[in-house]
Amino acid sequence: MRSFTFHPGPRILAGPDQARSLAEKLPPGPCLLVTDAELVRLGLADAYIDAIAEGGRALVIFDAVEADPSKETLLAATAAGRAGEVASVVGFGGGSPMDVAKLAAYLLGSGEVLDEIWGVDVATGARLPLMLVPTTAGTGSEATPISVITCEGGVKLAVNARPLTADWAVLDATLTTGLPRDTTAATGIDAIVHAIEAYTSARLKNPISDALARDALRLLSANLTIAIEQPDNLEARSAMLLGAHFAGLAFSNAPVAGVHALAYPLGGLHHLPHGLTNALMLRHVLGHNLEAARELYAELAEIVAPDCAAEGSQARAARLIDTLDTLVRSSGLAPRLRDHGIAFDEAPKLAREAMKQTRLLVNNPCEISEADAQRLYEAAW
Ligand SMILES: NC(=O)c1ccc[n+]([C@@H]2O[C@H](COP(=O)([O-])OP(=O)(O)OC[C@H]3O[C@@H](n4cnc5c(N)ncnc54)[C@H](O)[C@@H]3O)[C@@H](O)[C@H]2O)c1
Ligand SMILES: [Fe+2]
Repeated sequence: MRSFTFHPGPRILAGPDQARSLAEKLPPGPCLLVTDAELVRLGLADAYIDAIAEGGRALVIFDAVEADPSKETLLAATAAGRAGEVASVVGFGGGSPMDVAKLAAYLLGSGEVLDEIWGVDVATGARLPLMLVPTTAGTGSEATPISVITCEGGVKLAVNARPLTADWAVLDATLTTGLPRDTTAATGIDAIVHAIEAYTSARLKNPISDALARDALRLLSANLTIAIEQPDNLEARSAMLLGAHFAGLAFSNAPVAGVHALAYPLGGLHHLPHGLTNALMLRHVLGHNLEAARELYAELAEIVAPDCAAEGSQARAARLIDTLDTLVRSSGLAPRLRDHGIAFDEAPKLAREAMKQTRLLVNNPCEISEADAQRLYEAAW
């Protein structure tokens, strides 16, 4: 067996009504709850707010996290925690609040400076106790040691370091039944892309991440349409949440690649939802990778289209791309860049920005040059 390293994720509390169990695991002292205003308005966080505050614990609620959170937001959340002298952090929401919670817990616990810890394994200090509760089935951020922050000029920077892995994560699918249709679609496709890019990750793919990625793709591809069409279908929502978590564990160890590298500039410059940007670039980047990743795509094709098992690897790999494209189109998301206010002549600028995502591009099964990236944006237009 080839040598490999695998890092597990947080401990898990799964099932409905976990608020009290989570609160019991918090250390004594004030707690910072990081969430977004929409989730507070929906009352989704109420049970957690009540459980954490039970017994008189001071609770600092920071609910100003926007989609694709900025550095300013992260620093404001950290300042709120510092002012409240908090002893723990709970992140409640989609990837955006969870990513802010993770880094806030780290900055509060370590006292380090944000601009000195960007990148892979730079942050090695101690964070505050950290619990994460996802309300989207997408990023898998509750499973990962990664936090993505939008910085100056719309550039997305990440801290990817072991201390950011949470102590506990809650997987409660009842929190996801109110997700709007487009968010269910976009976040679900994000998770599917995590599974595929982990499975073809060039440097760090390993047997455990492979098993997780395959099972993630099985759960996600079979349940995305049901979750979109029947939002209250708890079985489908549970499969999506579990699939997104498995995909998160997979890509924590076998990192994502070209689809994310080309998706990020669309999110950073145009503020499109992260999952949507992945959906827009998916078929084009997979098409670019087709020859280099043919055998691996062929293996994944049997999961999403079992009837192709007898075909040759070229046909199966093509079938993976077609099946995913059909899934994206039937999800209701408008599938072209032009549908989202992006001009054709932005392609060179987007390509230049994508080249900055070197941490992702190195994981792609084949090279994506700046000229390739421009051609892929033009094809996606
Ligand atoms: N840390 C990681 O490993 C990782 C991986 C991928 C992406 N990301 C980052 O995560 C962010 C995207 O996260 P996301 O896609 O989960 O979206 P999000 O957290 O930005 O939320 C999107 C919208 O959905 C709403 N929402 C969330 N849960 C809801 C619910 N249950 N019911 C109704 N509305 C709900 C939110 O209020 C928000 O308006 C991006 O910043 C992206 O870069 C992080
Ligand atoms: Fe993603």
